[in-house]
Amino acid sequence: MAFTATVGNQQVSCGEDQSMLDAFLRAGVWMPNSCNQGTCGTCKLRVVDGDVDHGDSPADTLTAEEREAGLALACQATLRSDSVVETLGGAVGGGITHPLRDLTATVLSNDEIARDTRRLLLELPEPLAFHPGQYVELTVPGTQLRRQYSLANTADEDKVLELHIRSVSGGAATERWIFTSMAVGDQIPVTGPLGDFFLPAEDSDDGGPMVLIGGGTGLAPLIGLARTALSRDPGRRVLLYHGVRGVDDLYNLDQMAELTKVYPAFTFVPVLSHEAPAAESVHRAGFPTDHFIEDVDSARGWSGWLCGPPPMVEAGVKAFKRRRMAPRMIHREKFTPATD
Ligand code: FES
Repeated sequence: MAFTATVGNQQVSCGEDQSMLDAFLRAGVWMPNSCNQGTCGTCKLRVVDGDVDHGDSPADTLTAEEREAGLALACQATLRSDSVVETLGGAVGGGITHPLRDLTATVLSNDEIARDTRRLLLELPEPLAFHPGQYVELTVPGTQLRRQYSLANTADEDKVLELHIRSVSGGAATERWIFTSMAVGDQIPVTGPLGDFFLPAEDSDDGGPMVLIGGGTGLAPLIGLARTALSRDPGRRVLLYHGVRGVDDLYNLDQMAELTKVYPAFTFVPVLSHEAPAAESVHRAGFPTDHFIEDVDSARGWSGWLCGPPPMVEAGVKAFKRRRMAPRMIHREKFTPATD
């Protein structure tokens, strides 16, 4: 049985087992969202009227007090009656969104590009509209397990999706599928786009300097963001740090060299945390956030973009604030371990 959620002046039909977030995004109604797993709290909303089932909402993301106060996680909650909801902060269904869709993609290539890292190219039967920086979900064959991978594409690269995937020890998606049995020509289900890690629309983008810091395959969405920002303004200052353990973990170096050549205000800084850089190399030692603090005296007026493991993202937020970046200009995408 379906129920209706009213958000602002829009009404969305929600299936019995469908999360509110899934229903909103499929209907093209924007809702803040990030992890789609109940861990980040971005999709928290207020149920003004009606009943919801909180499903698997974790208590540390949605406390008992918050449930009592009528809050819910849109990515976990399902409706049990027609309901009226509102997003926190007053936004009600505004913003630009591209509807969430299910498509069947064909594996075009699945190549090793760095240590324990693959580049997966997936051809879609029709274009998928998304914002650069968003992610898609793949479902592991024969299971209900969904895995989330950021898109490395710009918005016009909407027929062949590029994902960067690092192997996870014992991982159902990587060790038992993508790195072993997945073959060119396989047909796989793809759901997307998801997430709120993307640039403002061009007419509200202030064009200010940007710093992007990615850990490991956290580089993927930053490529789409950086290329989009530079295509809007080729003179824009864009500083991209890629933090990895060793030189064998670096990838897309040709693309970085090309961007550096074409856009003089673009800087790429590879940083090695577990290896001493070779003499004369452009690599730096340590952590990207420390280098940002050394390189930039003031980040007032800048925007910051962080994607990777939670400790790196948290260190980045501190570094940006230390250099006086406004909190609202700090954007983050945390890679949290998937649970089976
Ligand atoms: S908790 Fe719902 S999107 Fe993260």
